[in-house]
Amino acid sequence: MRTALIILLPVLIMVVFLKEPTLSGAQNKDALFLNKCTHCHNTERICKYIGRYNPLVWRKTIEYMQSKGAKVDNTEKITIAMYLGTLQRHKAAFCK
Ligand code: HEC
Repeated sequence: MRTALIILLPVLIMVVFLKEPTLSGAQNKDALFLNKCTHCHNTERICKYIGRYNPLVWRKTIEYMQSKGAKVDNTEKITIAMYLGTLQRHKAAFCK
């Protein structure tokens, strides 16, 4: 019984530590994206392309948005492009 605990405990701790950053990371990216991309239009325009555009196409799209006046720096551009380009449609909470 004790051996099982000794083995299980580090595993549990690892699971908690590994899961937490990815969870909050996704929430941060969601917040960043919502903050940067919903000033001029809602997410409907964006949802159409979730699961269809890859990160490169999103990067181009965001550059086009910058030409329309979107205030996004280079790091944010890459972060949002990666986020939208790898997001699965059914996991996009902002599209429901
Ligand atoms: C400064 C205003 C502004 C901001 C901020 C903005 N957009 Fe746009 N967006 C536009 C305009 C204007 C259009 C319509 C352009 C057109 O019809 O060619 C558009 C259209 C789009 C489209 C549809 C393009 C198509 O071909 O159907 C997508 C996708 C999009 N935006 C994504 C984003 C994303 C992602 C962000 C955040 C990085 C963002 N937008 C932020 C102004 C903005």
